Amino acid sequence: MPKSIAIAADHAGFDLKAKLVDELRSTGYDVSDLGTDDASTSVDYPDFGKAVAEAVTSGKADCGVVVCGTGIGISIAANRHPGVRAALCHDETSARLCREHNDANVLALGARLIGEVVAKDCLHTFLNTEFAGDRHARRVTKLG
Ligand code: RB5
Repeated sequence: MPKSIAIAADHAGFDLKAKLVDELRSTGYDVSDLGTDDASTSVDYPDFGKAVAEAVTSGKADCGVVVCGTGIGISIAANRHPGVRAALCHDETSARLCREHNDANVLALGARLIGEVVAKDCLHTFLNTEFAGDRHARRVTKLG
């Protein structure tokens, strides 16, 4: 199970990110908050997807969480980095299956589309579900 988590968001995801950072720290995770630092300054989601991607691929973090308005832009951004498997999740089932089947190492959330409770459910399920391996390992290897 992951111990260190890198997390980042754009301005649209800032409020949800702050709640998730509190949740993670109070649960005992080592959290690297890579910004952004307020909701009122407009920033560009690719910069924050990149920051989390680099933390994960360098090994500084075991896994990552990225948040933007829809989760779409920042998941696309993170997935442009080789070795990153970012999964955009809107429910607990997708959060579980992205770990079991895809060995996702970055969870992407859309702050304008899901509420805090669902986001926290996704987060905990993502962090507490193991990769199933077996036939899924062959497929994940083909992702490069
Ligand atoms: C920012 O307005 C918004 O475009 C961004 O947070 C995200 O939803 C993009 O995919």
